[in-house]
Amino acid sequence: MLLLASLICIYSCKHRRHQNDKLSGFTIANRALAFKDHIDTIPKGYKGPKFVLRKNYPIKVDSTLYKSEKEKCKWLNIPLTEKDFNSAVKKDNGQWPEKWDEYASSIKQYLVSNLKLEKNGIAFNNPYWYNLPWLATNPYSGREFTHGARYSFPIPITQLVPSAKSKATVSVWGIAHYNYFGGLALGQVWSEYGDLQYMPAPNGNRVKGLPFLDGTVIHKVNIIGHLGDYTPEHLKNAPSWELNIHKNAPGTGAKTYERTLQKAHILEMDVMVKDSRSPCGWVFCALVYNDDVPYEKPLWERYEIMGIQFGMDPESFPAVPITESKPIHQTLLKPISEKWTVGCYGRLVTFQGSTSQNCMGCHQTSYSVKGTPSRGFALLGGLGKESCDTTSYKTYPNYFKNWKFPSVYDGTPMFNTSKDSLVGYDFSLRLFDAVESYEEYKVQ
Ligand code: HEC
Repeated sequence: MLLLASLICIYSCKHRRHQNDKLSGFTIANRALAFKDHIDTIPKGYKGPKFVLRKNYPIKVDSTLYKSEKEKCKWLNIPLTEKDFNSAVKKDNGQWPEKWDEYASSIKQYLVSNLKLEKNGIAFNNPYWYNLPWLATNPYSGREFTHGARYSFPIPITQLVPSAKSKATVSVWGIAHYNYFGGLALGQVWSEYGDLQYMPAPNGNRVKGLPFLDGTVIHKVNIIGHLGDYTPEHLKNAPSWELNIHKNAPGTGAKTYERTLQKAHILEMDVMVKDSRSPCGWVFCALVYNDDVPYEKPLWERYEIMGIQFGMDPESFPAVPITESKPIHQTLLKPISEKWTVGCYGRLVTFQGSTSQNCMGCHQTSYSVKGTPSRGFALLGGLGKESCDTTSYKTYPNYFKNWKFPSVYDGTPMFNTSKDSLVGYDFSLRLFDAVESYEEYKVQ
């Protein structure tokens, strides 16, 4: 009896202590920072849209909802084989193989029925879309109040306006959201108090909730501001939203934390869909603005699929010497890509990357050293600019392999650390950024 009573006490006292911990001032502060909507101040009298973080991640699987959401992911039912993922080449008439055409169209169809592109923002037809926590903490890059866009990175203006004889850069701001299946992962990755949750096994360096589940769709709208007098030809009549972003673009003036409300163009939309059949577990897809489509057409018709990528093409240049190179067979591009930027040797990239990069090349570097996030992505300095020359396959032999979570790409020569201490985030660079921010700001 006594034993039973003390056992109950051990359990309940421990349990209560745990509860108290959770309600401590530190934890409350942690949660407030993690789930902040935006970093900037809403000016008096502002009447436009206001961003509210979508943070009610599903914690438990509701089997009916799970099933009905899964049915909407039509691309998962297209019978693709290993061969399809390894030898996707256009037909002689320039058309894509039917299955891949259907795949890309069903992704676009899914977006069209889930997301409404409006005059000044996105509206959701489906309530199960979510945002990441921890991205409204940094005063320079943190989310702004109108649409929750955060500063991603600068690109040279010459990438958009080749005739511009200027070294100026244009800032890219991004709004990203994760569908129901993405939300299921986020609800595990983060505790309700905004703490990163690790799995007890296998060696303590895996975050809970990953890999992302099949059916995950991540959609990111890339927006550019600070175009000044320049109008890039292919953005003629492109929609613009009003955002509260940096007053000066980096490169055009001093780095400033000051922000102003200004018109900013939607440059393109990037999508990642989780499909475990793919050699790296994902299919990347870019939708770009086509200003040849009449202005009167609905907005979604003016954004066209530019291409998809589902592998690094390890058998093509510069993964192998040019004399041994096979044609690219893990990227498919539509003719509109000729107006935009094509990445390394025909791999998928858009204006937000350079001609020597590709979507997956950047995204495979989403990992950090446990507890001290270091920018794996930027640390790859050399790869940013010179990843597509004749020596890169020797310098970075791992870069062009197809990595699949939980394997973590470890190609950076700069990391003098054991591979065991690397924590991977399954190709999500925004999640990487959120973890970095969490480590920086978490209340100790
Ligand atoms: C130069 C490196 C680079 C290239 C090339 C690149 N990305 Fe990204 N991407 C990033 C970074 C960094 C982020 C996180 C920053 C942010 O979201 O603000 C990101 C974020 C994203 C996100 C938001 C979701 C997430 O969890 O990361 C999506 C979706 C995405 N990219 C898709 C693409 C697609 C599709 C392509 C190719 C057309 C592409 N990216 C090319 C660096 C890159």
